[in-house]
Amino acid sequence: MMSNEQLIYVHPAPVRIWHWINAAGFIILIVTGFQIRYADILNWMPLKDAITIHNYGGFAVIINYFLWLIYYIGSGKIKIYISDLHTFIPKSITQMKYYGYGFFKGVPNPHSMTQENKFNAPQQNAYLVIMLFLLPAQMISGMFLWKVKGYSNYINILGGIKVIDSIHVILFFIFTSFVMVHCYLATLGHTPLAHFKAMITGYEAHH
Ligand code: HEM
Repeated sequence: MMSNEQLIYVHPAPVRIWHWINAAGFIILIVTGFQIRYADILNWMPLKDAITIHNYGGFAVIINYFLWLIYYIGSGKIKIYISDLHTFIPKSITQMKYYGYGFFKGVPNPHSMTQENKFNAPQQNAYLVIMLFLLPAQMISGMFLWKVKGYSNYINILGGIKVIDSIHVILFFIFTSFVMVHCYLATLGHTPLAHFKAMITGYEAHH
């Protein structure tokens, strides 16, 4: 380890456990989701099996979500997901410039990670919207699609099955794109694997 390097504990165990169960669940949901949505052109597995696996994966992600929610709300740490309204636009622009340009020039990351402030401005906003709005919307629309008859009252109030199905599919594409961008950005640490290791061990090297 270099002498100017210091390890800081950024990802507590519940967050790491939640994150990797969630990531595995999402991969299963995305693969089976493609099979279900494009059953006429894909032949990865029988449709019936894809639906069964998708349902189990969905429930695993839903149950696991409560680990994240209880941990963050219970500990009060949810505030690390909330950005400062006065500075988040200029800070996001600076961070985007870094990802698109500065990083490749070897410029230091404009955001310096601490335990209380581990996310940069775009991360705070993306993660907050995903965890508090998009993921719950996906979980609820998924539950409705799982038992259409049982939930028909709610489905009708919300505009019918087509509306629910469209929400679920649009969010599916948003999540699939997010996972790709998220995995790429996760390689932009001080080494390509640094952020991945941190999400396993809990410790991030700080310069
Ligand atoms: C193969 C899939 C995935 C990989 C390899 C991956 C990798 C990572 C890594 C390395 C971090 C730590 C660096 C950072 O904070 O950005 C992280 C954090 C995070 N990821 Fe992922 N991720 C994956 C899937 C997902 C999915 C599917 C979601 C949500 C739908 C997600 C949501 C998050 C959130 C919210 C954090 C911050 C967690 C916290 O510290 O509270 N990730 N991910």
